[in-house]
Amino acid sequence: MQTILKIDRLTRAFGGLVAVDQVSFEVQEGEIFGLIGPNGAGKTTLFNLITGLTPPTSGKQFFLGEDLTAARPHIIATKGIARTFQNIRLFGNLSALENVMVAQHVHTRSGVLSGVLGTPTARREQQQSRDYAMELLRLVHLDDRAEAQARNFSYGDQRRLEIARALALRPKLLLLDEPGAGMNSNEKAGLSQFIRDIRAQFNLTVVLIEHHVPLVMGLCDRIAVLNFGQLIALGVPSAVQNDPAVVEAYLGE
Ligand SMILES: Nc1ncnc2c1ncn2[C@@H]1O[C@H](COP(=O)(O)OP(=O)(O)OP(=O)(O)O)[C@@H](O)[C@H]1O
Ligand SMILES: [Mg+2]
Repeated sequence: MQTILKIDRLTRAFGGLVAVDQVSFEVQEGEIFGLIGPNGAGKTTLFNLITGLTPPTSGKQFFLGEDLTAARPHIIATKGIARTFQNIRLFGNLSALENVMVAQHVHTRSGVLSGVLGTPTARREQQQSRDYAMELLRLVHLDDRAEAQARNFSYGDQRRLEIARALALRPKLLLLDEPGAGMNSNEKAGLSQFIRDIRAQFNLTVVLIEHHVPLVMGLCDRIAVLNFGQLIALGVPSAVQNDPAVVEAYLGE
């Protein structure tokens, strides 16, 4: 197995608060890797570090062996890391289709200018990008509402639209920040199988933040537990679940 992501003593302080404190672990290619911990443990901050949204205070990060420490978000996206957001970030006034197409621009060859001028290459790329976006919308069962504005979608639909948008970047590593939040129990029940399916179909590695413990335990190959910014446990679900430090962190919440 190959290491896809390696973080090494990654740290981020906000003033006196160390939100992510010397966290080290490796994620293997093809894994579904869970990241759990109480509210404020530093999970989202860790995603912000990995995607370049927040620069680290110290520590290092490698993606497929390449040092991407403190790289800019668009560079990291181009390398193959995509994410969804805990607080959904869609363009509410754009259609579902447009939301997915906007994300693809990192991969189209023709620039903005030729797009405006409508050169044959730009037009062909536009059509390909549209076809692929529709394919992704079909995958998340939103193709029948491709032209509807994203702001009119339910929470669950918006979460799935964000996943489609992330997949449009053709990532190797997909980071999902609480994909089940706001979903109804039906949608939540289908989420595990959906994540397994997209892993297989797109050859993905997935890192997943999720509070719903049974979902995490049933879905993830390995789990890392953060508490007050520190990694307090790492291992297979059964080991992590019975780890006294983990039990204490959750009971103390
Ligand atoms: N930009 C920021 N400026 C100051 N403090 C921040 C900032 N971002 C996060 N924090 C703080 O860092 C800590 C970790 O926050 P983070 O959002 O990473 O936690 P989390 O594990 O994702 O929590 P939750 O489960 O509630 O989403 C919190 O105490 C939070 O208030
Ligand atoms: Mg969070």
